[in-house]
Amino acid sequence: MTTLLEVKNLKTHFFNRKKVIPAVDGVDIKIDKGETVALVGESGSGKSITSLSIMKLIPSPPGKIVDGEILFNGTDLAKLTENEMCQVRGNDISMIFQEPMTSLNPVLTIGEQITEVLIYHKKMSKKEATRKAIDLLKMVGFSRAEEIIHDYPHRLSGGMRQRVMIAIAMSCDPKLLIADEPTTALDVTIQAQILDLMKELSEKTNTSILIITHDLGVVSDIADKVLVMYCGQVVEEANVEDLFDEPLHPYTVGLMESIPSLEADTDRLVPIQGNVPSPDNFPKGCRFAPRCPHAFDRCLQEVPSLMSIDGKRLVRCFLYDKEEATV
Ligand SMILES: Nc1ncnc2c1ncn2[C@@H]1O[C@H](COP(=O)(O)OP(=O)(O)O)[C@@H](O)[C@H]1O
Ligand code: SF4
Ligand SMILES: [Mg+2]
Repeated sequence: MTTLLEVKNLKTHFFNRKKVIPAVDGVDIKIDKGETVALVGESGSGKSITSLSIMKLIPSPPGKIVDGEILFNGTDLAKLTENEMCQVRGNDISMIFQEPMTSLNPVLTIGEQITEVLIYHKKMSKKEATRKAIDLLKMVGFSRAEEIIHDYPHRLSGGMRQRVMIAIAMSCDPKLLIADEPTTALDVTIQAQILDLMKELSEKTNTSILIITHDLGVVSDIADKVLVMYCGQVVEEANVEDLFDEPLHPYTVGLMESIPSLEADTDRLVPIQGNVPSPDNFPKGCRFAPRCPHAFDRCLQEVPSLMSIDGKRLVRCFLYDKEEATV
């Protein structure tokens, strides 16, 4: 497997007059070509700021990438100029968000919005671009693509708009697609269709995907590897089968127990107690300690690092520290 993206020790902080807010605090992510990696965690854990950092779209001020490397095909994006980054955004990495209506222009037809990208980034003629737009719309499941190109966004359902966004995101044959909560606004059946579509496109075109979601339930069918994020850090990393077979970190166990499932009786859903601490006030020891059912003295004093388990997965928790295991 060849590595496409390697984020090393990414730190993105926000600065206000009084405080430093470490929204992303030392994150490592490796994505191979064609691989789908999921970044999962409750709202406020730093997922979007991680993805915006990769795209170099952090509003500055107040935000800043203060440390780390973002190696994309070996080039450190952290060092590129804004002009060079524009090229990367249009051609190599594309992004889709939760609410496609805000990303689509309400006064342009679907066709105009797709062809615009192709004419600008791929230097196609209007005619070529229209032909390609129809192909792209067919690829994302519109059988009547020739008609859809004349429609305005408000004529389409939420699921259809997200398909259009995927078509636009795929129009420049990106090597990496970052999807930030792409199905959160959609109902469950449509969610599944959109995830299937992304998986299918990724397999067909060998595009890597970084999918970001607060819902661990979403990732089981689509992801190869899962990174669980809490308070600006990765707390567990494993391939999807291992993670679902046996979640190790108490936070992952909590997320697992709060997945709503279609067949399970909903009485058994147990939300994780307490709230995500604000980044300007992280607890001193393990950041999960105030909510952790297994917390013990050491967790309140020391900061756990990411530990390797059997050389194939990572967990940031003292319960898996060999020193503790021998006690
Ligand atoms: N513009 C900002 N100014 C100050 N802090 C911010 C800003 N944007 C995000 N943050 C901080 O970063 C944290 C993580 O945000 P985010 O990455 O959006 O979380 P997630 O996507 O996991 O819900 C937030 O809880 C917030 O404290
Ligand atoms: S280090 Fe301690 S508080 Fe943190 S997750 Fe593990 S057991 Fe819980
Ligand atoms: Mg977010």
